[in-house]
Amino acid sequence: MADPKKLFIKTYGCQMNVYDSERMAEAMGADGYVSVDSAEGADMVLINTCHIREKASEKLYSDLGRLRKLKAENPAMKIGVAGCVAQAEGAEILRRMPLVDLVVGPQAYHRLPEMARAPGQSIDTDFPLEDKFDALPERKALRGPAAFLTVQEGCDKFCAFCVVPYTRGAEVSRPVERILTEARGLVARGVRDITLLGQNVNAYHGMMQDQDWTLARLLREMAQIDGLERLRYTTSHPNDMDNDLIAAHGDLPKLMPYLHLPVQSGSDRILKAMNRKHSTEDYLRLIERIRAARPDILLSSDFIVGFPGETEAEFEQTLDLIRAVGFGMAYSFKYSARPGTPAAEKPELPADVSDARLQRLQALLGEQQRAAQSAMVGREVGVLYEKPGRQEGQMIGKSDHLHAVHVNDSTGQIGDLVRVRITAAASNSLAGERLPA
Ligand code: 5AD
Ligand code: SF4
Repeated sequence: MADPKKLFIKTYGCQMNVYDSERMAEAMGADGYVSVDSAEGADMVLINTCHIREKASEKLYSDLGRLRKLKAENPAMKIGVAGCVAQAEGAEILRRMPLVDLVVGPQAYHRLPEMARAPGQSIDTDFPLEDKFDALPERKALRGPAAFLTVQEGCDKFCAFCVVPYTRGAEVSRPVERILTEARGLVARGVRDITLLGQNVNAYHGMMQDQDWTLARLLREMAQIDGLERLRYTTSHPNDMDNDLIAAHGDLPKLMPYLHLPVQSGSDRILKAMNRKHSTEDYLRLIERIRAARPDILLSSDFIVGFPGETEAEFEQTLDLIRAVGFGMAYSFKYSARPGTPAAEKPELPADVSDARLQRLQALLGEQQRAAQSAMVGREVGVLYEKPGRQEGQMIGKSDHLHAVHVNDSTGQIGDLVRVRITAAASNSLAGERLPA
């Protein structure tokens, strides 16, 4: 038998890109490719790109620059660009970078094997009518006991700063039965923790026979799967947190006490300019209801500083909102104008103003994150072991609240879900001791 061909995929961006990369590796696996960890010696290199901020897209061109030497040494090497930059820039990538053989958008990657077989350059950035998931081989890749599962893609919200509705397209939900089949398959392969993914996951509306299921209903059904111990979902929009979904946080022990709920800003004027369609007050009320359902929930969010026109006072309102909520975790970004979005038409703030605001915001969020970690000390949590630690006899896993936890446990195995008492908080992880079952 011929040696298998080697495929190296480099993944940027969100968790959905991580999921897509796995599915692309599986699709290429059916064509005789095995995944490798480096571009050197690979027969094909695929860069799965992110277009969300300028810095994320720039990485593509510096990566391609570096690949030039490898391609000169091995002209048969195929280079592919996938993901949201592929979707947004399309043929422009082939023009700028002739070393690229194929460009494939996020909705067309089931056609990747065919494209890789074809000679010459090819491009596919369609939003095809067929469902790419139907055309993909069954899930195989397994990197441990925790897995992502895409249930919804695209976004109809059109926040003024965001490229997602353009690169990922309109909101589409996968049918319930397909999701359940994929989940059962993952569980049969040892997965115990599933994070449902969608750009707007809580807007999920999937069909089951002739009925329309919400995300809450889907979660309730998934919680019945034996062997599946933990559920999470991301990313949500505040306006799609319906009553049943909030109630599910109280009703379903398998639904983990962690919720990522981006708010972006604490200024009503900026939220309006961002086309977020919710106010600061709406968000605060919503958090109250979620905490009433699940008091120990750890909240995470996304923030953008330096949106066009943001004043000092408006920025400070964001700090006030952060103080009012108390986030256990957060991602924060300097506004980055994205071509084609409405906000990109507006004059930008001076970079030093945005930089200084981002620093102040991150200092506050960092304090809150450390406080949330310290507050875990002494508590008993579940930990799912994902890999061995650096020290002999040590395991690393994720807690119910998604903290990384180090446990000295010489008998521990990857995939064990154990009870742990947290004993210490370090800067980016916790330490704990295993409790008897
Ligand atoms: N500039 C900065 N941050 C952005 N995000 C989305 N678009 C932009 C942009 N143009 C952030 C938002 C979103 C997260 C995934 O990325 O906070 O929630
Ligand atoms: Fe982008 Fe999220 Fe707004 Fe959709 S809801 S446009 S993905 S920021």
